[in-house]
Amino acid sequence: MKVLLVGGGGREHAIAEAIARSKKDPQLYAAMSKKNPGIARLCKDYLLVKETDPELVGFAVRNGIELAVMGPEAPLAAGIPDLLWDAGIPVVGPRKLAAQIEFDKAWTRNFMKKYSIAGLPQFKVFRKGESGTDEYIKELGDVVIKPAGLTGGKGVRVMGDHFDLEGAATYAKEVLKNDDLVVEERLVGEEFTVQAFVDGKTLAFAPAVQDHKRAYDGDKGPNTGGMGSYNDSKDILPFMEESDYNGAKKIMSDTVQAIKKETGVPYQGILYGQFMATGSGILVIEFNARFGDPEAMNVLPLLNSDFLEICLGIVNRTLDSVNVKFKKKATVCKYAVPEGYPDNPVRDSAVEVGDTGDALLFYSSVYEKDNKIYTTGSRALAVLGMADTIKKAEEKAGAGLSGLKGRLYSRHDIGTEALIRKRIRHMEELRGNS
Ligand code: AMP
Ligand code: GLY
Repeated sequence: MKVLLVGGGGREHAIAEAIARSKKDPQLYAAMSKKNPGIARLCKDYLLVKETDPELVGFAVRNGIELAVMGPEAPLAAGIPDLLWDAGIPVVGPRKLAAQIEFDKAWTRNFMKKYSIAGLPQFKVFRKGESGTDEYIKELGDVVIKPAGLTGGKGVRVMGDHFDLEGAATYAKEVLKNDDLVVEERLVGEEFTVQAFVDGKTLAFAPAVQDHKRAYDGDKGPNTGGMGSYNDSKDILPFMEESDYNGAKKIMSDTVQAIKKETGVPYQGILYGQFMATGSGILVIEFNARFGDPEAMNVLPLLNSDFLEICLGIVNRTLDSVNVKFKKKATVCKYAVPEGYPDNPVRDSAVEVGDTGDALLFYSSVYEKDNKIYTTGSRALAVLGMADTIKKAEEKAGAGLSGLKGRLYSRHDIGTEALIRKRIRHMEELRGNS
């Protein structure tokens, strides 16, 4: 089966590995903006192209591609899946109308309200150039400011972390010059992610994962795309209750049904729900229309089912007849990122990949030139430990990191007992049962 993968980061390397493991005789093609060595190695052919460039549709047609799998959000926002479907190629990744759930945060909040989807924080949408933000920020008191469009995870600013009341008001006005804006209440709790395969009506859920957005140990420093993530050997994380996971599943199912009603388009692809577990239940932070990066690296290696069979279930809308199963193992994923990331990262700096032991290795934002590997400035390489417990998985990931050489740094606290105990205590305090 000829499959096109769009995207060239760590998430896409994990997808490429899942495709390569399929029993459906996969022949992999990739469209990526730079040569990711991990993906290139698994490919029959690849095209170096911007992931939003319609030229990749021509590449797919010329190569007789039978199925396309979308990695990142940018091609979804650019409507690449629509072009591929129009060219007769089925796509895992929602059409533009359905992908709005990720690339227009104002649309999504209004949509959740219209369809009474649970887990909606207090919010208000302001259109470009509109006034009135000062009053609403004061009314809520504790806010998060979100530009409506895609900002690579870096546009959202949280009060307390990034600014005070006055700073929030100033930032809101700055954003409104160029974009619509959502002002919403700041939620206090622990974040978790649930990812699902979706065929338009049926959802098959992966175990919950927790990402770590802050750059440095102890959740300090600037926000990043995600420094690392972990899951437990069951569906929920140590700080979660069963009802948090079930609530998240219900919200995601309701969302998929409502998207069909609102847009007329079935949601076919991956749905990523990001939730805040709070003292009074779970709330939705955001939806993404793709796997998370790094969260894809946690769940795809756990997949016991054939990834391409699931993909066919998604595009043929027969996911209910596919048995989607995950191994009951814990994983810990840690990114090695360039020194100075995210604000002033060293670019084009050579890295060496040595012995990563029992850890799986994923190439992310690096490129290969003359048999050497270089950083681009974004998250470079990831290692994944898998074991029966989070503790053992963390040890494997930590050992894996020591095999990576170059001007890189990582967070060493992700998946450690100390940090997990802190998360559990935090939730106990919020739930009032400490
Ligand atoms: P997003 O791009 O929507 O994922 O937001 C980036 C990060 O901002 C999230 O991962 C959260 O850590 C934080 N965030 C977003 N919305 C809220 C909220 N309503 N309350 C608290 N933190 C939030
Ligand atoms: N790791 C967060 C995301 O992929 O959006």
